[in-house]
Amino acid sequence: MDMKKLLFILMMALLSLSIFTACGNSAEQTATDEQTDTEVTEQEEESGSAADGKTLVVYFTRIGNTGEGFPEGVDATTSASLQQTDEGLKGNAQMIAEWVADETHGDIFAIESEDLYPADYDATVEKASTDQSDKARPALKTHVDNINQYKTVVMSFPNWWGDLPMPVYSFFDEYDLSGKEVIVYVTHEGSGYSDTVSTIAELEPGADVREGLSIRGGDVSNSETEVRDSIK
Ligand SMILES: Cc1cc2nc3c(=O)[nH]c(=O)nc-3n(C[C@H](O)[C@H](O)[C@H](O)COP(=O)(O)O)c2cc1C
Repeated sequence: MDMKKLLFILMMALLSLSIFTACGNSAEQTATDEQTDTEVTEQEEESGSAADGKTLVVYFTRIGNTGEGFPEGVDATTSASLQQTDEGLKGNAQMIAEWVADETHGDIFAIESEDLYPADYDATVEKASTDQSDKARPALKTHVDNINQYKTVVMSFPNWWGDLPMPVYSFFDEYDLSGKEVIVYVTHEGSGYSDTVSTIAELEPGADVREGLSIRGGDVSNSETEVRDSIK
């Protein structure tokens, strides 16, 4: 064999060895990637909702419950309970619910009443007072698809006159949450939870009802980390 031919064979041998080694590394990398993904999923399952069963996050807020909608450019001065976000106008209870749903990989559900509230804040306060005195239980427009699939139900709503908003009572009338954990998030302007947690425990005697957080309306927009940490 001449020298040229020998050199060629040697080069080819070296080349195929390096290709093989490179393939081996990338296969190993894929295995490591897969292992990491699996570990993340397992960690999520241990800390999140998956290992405990599915989570449903239910919220009630003024948005979606007014007949007229809100005037363009509405702000905290004209409508104390609303937050202008990059995604549009949101209620405090809705923002909390969205963070919780994201953190728990849960489903989200908005309670919408057939009996609408005025867009005007003071008029809503007045109507809510009358409804409370009348023990109103407004019919709901929205309904949960198969409540039985959920192990945990997170409730997020505003404190209205030291109590649950009436459509939230209607929600508890509609569903039996026996055997489920119910975690309560309340937004307010000073009253905190009031008696909302014990009221829910009375309405759902078979459920394990506990506090999540109570957050002042004006503090909600800065509470994302606190909310997410509270449900981990
Ligand atoms: C009808 C009505 C009644 C309210 N009653 C109370 C109350 O008794 N105590 C309190 O601290 N805040 C009260 N608030 C303030 C709300 O709980 C607070 O603004 C809350 O952050 C609103 O949440 P939302 O944006 O999800 O509607 C009331 C607000 C409304 C509209």
